[in-house]
Amino acid sequence: MYTVLVSGLLFGLASGAAVKRGGGYGYHKSLNVQVGVRPYYLVDDMDEGRLKHALQRCSEGPFKPSDFVIAHRGAPLQFPEHTLESYTAARRQGAGIIECDVAFTKDKKLVCRHDQCDLHTTTDILKHPELAAKCTTPFTPASGTSPATVQCCTSDITQAEFKSLCGKMDGFNPNGTTVEEYMDGTPYFRTDLYSTCGTVQTHDEYIDLVNGWGLKFTPELKTPKVEMPFDGYTQEQYAQDMINAYKKRGISPKRVFPQSFLPDDIFYWIDKEPAFGKQAVYLDERVDTPEGYENATASIPALARRGVKILAPAFFALTKVDANGKIVPSEYAIAAKKARMDIIGWSFERSGWLSIDGGGYYYDYVKEVINNDGDMYTVLDVLAQQVKIKGMFSDWPATLTYYANCFGL
Ligand SMILES: *[C@@H]1O[C@H](CO)[C@@H](O)[C@H](O)[C@H]1NC(C)=O
Ligand SMILES: *[C@@H]1O[C@H](CO)[C@@H](O)[C@H](O)[C@H]1NC(C)=O
Repeated sequence: MYTVLVSGLLFGLASGAAVKRGGGYGYHKSLNVQVGVRPYYLVDDMDEGRLKHALQRCSEGPFKPSDFVIAHRGAPLQFPEHTLESYTAARRQGAGIIECDVAFTKDKKLVCRHDQCDLHTTTDILKHPELAAKCTTPFTPASGTSPATVQCCTSDITQAEFKSLCGKMDGFNPNGTTVEEYMDGTPYFRTDLYSTCGTVQTHDEYIDLVNGWGLKFTPELKTPKVEMPFDGYTQEQYAQDMINAYKKRGISPKRVFPQSFLPDDIFYWIDKEPAFGKQAVYLDERVDTPEGYENATASIPALARRGVKILAPAFFALTKVDANGKIVPSEYAIAAKKARMDIIGWSFERSGWLSIDGGGYYYDYVKEVINNDGDMYTVLDVLAQQVKIKGMFSDWPATLTYYANCFGL
């Protein structure tokens, strides 16, 4: 709670500073947050009951930014992830915190990409012959029963070369016999409408953009896909460079939530950059198997003693269904609260229709009680009110903004 109150105050101050500077893309003195039609569609789709009525009563807003709302890669349900356009949409939808996944280039500069080696599915690199030739694995078309193969990494090219690429919707067709066919693989629940030429971002550009908006940052140090050290570049230097980008600009560590899946990165920040380490987010993927989930739950007190303050597993691990068919906090969530750790969930709006396989991965522990898309809000309500998560990542921030504003989060 303390964190949230302090963050709220800082948010106010930061916005004030932005007004004086008057900079930033799409800058306006006061932001008219737009949640669009999707939250209304989801509320209408909900089963009758207390929560639906409470949400209906909030239909006319007003809507404003909330730190509960964390833009996951921007707004990639419809906009190419980690692009200027995607971040801009996220801000308009009321995200208080915007994410950049951080990867390094051949010249050891930091850029925003979800995976060090996803350029072949998230950009048009294959349409640039001179750059495609530099890919770790150049493109080989599908043939017969063999799928196409290709792997292009940020570390294959320089930052300047990276900036010449267009961001596209993440997806590929493994059966592609041409580059065009291969690149055409956007999932059914997303759209190519805004996938014309997304403006890819360096980490520095992202910081200046989000800073100009007076919002908060959550950079994720992506696990390298190349052996470290890479051409002399160590994991520690990489972790340090990410933090240095904020220090250089005098950005308060209280506005920065560095994340990593690697405990050693979190411990590095706790030890070497304690002001940033205090807000470091440990992305806990150990929960992905039942045994890993048990181990992870058991390890929480030791992580707390080591200085870890924020845990972030995939949100399925935070709830379960009890004997009465009710969605309730999971053992993991209870253990985290007992250790006085903050919890963040990921990621909303990545599942498409929840009618398919009960929502799949993100709804794994509650799928038996999921039967319509409106159930998204039922799960979110348990996460917000009972697990008391501090925030949630979403591919479409507006869905969260509607809920967060309705319940004063
Ligand atoms: C690729 O081809 C395989 C085998 O014919 C098929 O099962 C699969 O659905 C195809 N995938 C796509 C994305 O078209
Ligand atoms: C869980 O912990 C046990 C005991 O320390 C260990 O042997 C096992 O490999 C762990 N399993 C996973 C999946 O982490």
